[in-house]
Amino acid sequence: MNDDLVLVVDFGAQYAQLIARRVREANVYSEIVPRDMPVADMLARKPKGIIFSGGPASVHVEGAPWIDPSIYDSDVPVLGICYGCQLIAQQLGGEVRRTGTGEYGRTELKVTGSSLLFANLPVEQAEWMSHGDSIVLAPPGFKTTASSAAPVAALEDAERGIYGVQFHPEVIHTDRGMEILKAFLYEVCGARPTWTSLSVIEQSVEAIQAQVGDGAVICGLSGGVDSAVAAALVHKAVGDQLTCVFVDTGLLRANEAEQVEETFLRQFHVDLVHVKAADRFLSVLEGVTDPEQKRKAIGETFIRVFEEAAKELGKGARFLVQGTLYPDVIESGTRDAAKIKSHHNVGGLPEDMDFDLVEPLRLLFKDEVRAVGEELGLPEDIVWRQPFPGPGLAVRIIGEITAERVQVLQQADAVVVEEVKRAGLYRELWQSFAVLPAVRSVGVMGDERTYAYPIVIRAVTSDDAMTADWARLPYDLLERISSRLINEVPGVNRVAYDITSKPPGTIEWE
Ligand code: XMP
Repeated sequence: MNDDLVLVVDFGAQYAQLIARRVREANVYSEIVPRDMPVADMLARKPKGIIFSGGPASVHVEGAPWIDPSIYDSDVPVLGICYGCQLIAQQLGGEVRRTGTGEYGRTELKVTGSSLLFANLPVEQAEWMSHGDSIVLAPPGFKTTASSAAPVAALEDAERGIYGVQFHPEVIHTDRGMEILKAFLYEVCGARPTWTSLSVIEQSVEAIQAQVGDGAVICGLSGGVDSAVAAALVHKAVGDQLTCVFVDTGLLRANEAEQVEETFLRQFHVDLVHVKAADRFLSVLEGVTDPEQKRKAIGETFIRVFEEAAKELGKGARFLVQGTLYPDVIESGTRDAAKIKSHHNVGGLPEDMDFDLVEPLRLLFKDEVRAVGEELGLPEDIVWRQPFPGPGLAVRIIGEITAERVQVLQQADAVVVEEVKRAGLYRELWQSFAVLPAVRSVGVMGDERTYAYPIVIRAVTSDDAMTADWARLPYDLLERISSRLINEVPGVNRVAYDITSKPPGTIEWE
């Protein structure tokens, strides 16, 4: 890799990811490393700079996250953010105190000393704080370069290349945060801004070619953005050595199958096997109403169908493409959360198949995957598509799944998505879709009594699907969706809006 590297030391996962994303937005490649990684290993990566992330702990608690102080003796510049800044102060002989009055949210920051970090900024600005402890004394050799309600909001020892800010330059509420980060990256570290979608594509193409040689590659397409971008990258790298297998489970959103075929077969001329397996999936789902059983039945059938398709190809493919993203790479191993639902990833299924994995997205965040997808010329409808569960509409149809009920939900879902898009909210929402419950209710349409199914609208905001909030959709949008659902979708006589956040709800209904 030709790009300069900045390491983000993880003192709290969510904080570290956001910093790494912002560094990359400044076109400098960054990677997250655990805080217990030996300093020698960090330095061996030849980083241009090292950033300590914030984190939820206090430096005063027993077993507070810590870093080997020999890092301060290297000549690689260090920037500590929030907890990272307090850690620097604490480890180098300053004083961090539990003052009892923390600062949370928007705060006024006053620049009090000259600093490369604040060179082009006004003396006063708003920044975003979230800390309970305060630095009351900078370590020997350090100068204080900014203050807020607390006496030390930024400190530095420019000679040793050690900088700290008590606030969060990575959050959007810090007015000039990006400029502060850029000043650290470009002015302090001398990092070059070369990390762009184009360079990502170039490097991925080279890496894929080196890995695959002249071997045959197979890729499961799901219609979602990750597998689509992964496939497009691999196709760019090895052309017709790639065969994509698209299993149409019959449980996809309206027009999804046609769009995949249109894009990959006709636009990109990818060798595409479109397995139309709707009947097979419907028949294994017959009579199944338990959510976990549905998921299992779909997962198993999917593996079987995929395997059969792969075998039939007879090309002896040795490589399988997976759309694994960077957050999964960072978090795998540390994740031991209780199993709430057995997830099924369409691209990532056949674990027991004898393949070498090609994972061209394993260093990328979702927003970077989208940027690469756009750069590769994938249509907006695919690149900006909201996440969709592997088992598809099956987990949004409560009770038994029949062809008729799938059709009702597809129609209803299309209405919801269309109206949300028309209202300009589609990209803002993590997901917005329709759910078909198994109860019926009485209504009156025209002069007739009806006894039919409701549609539940589900729309949530979220950053990572681990937690989510129900979206405050405008009433007039809800009204339009409701009236269209009842007028256009046969068999629907009532519409409800799900106002449950996660937790306690999950995003999907099953
Ligand atoms: P829940 O319903 O658990 O969903 O709050 C969290 C996110 O994951 C998606 N989801 C899945 N994705 N395979 C997937 O690839 C699955 O089996 C699956 N189940 C849920 C869901 O759409 C939401 O974005």
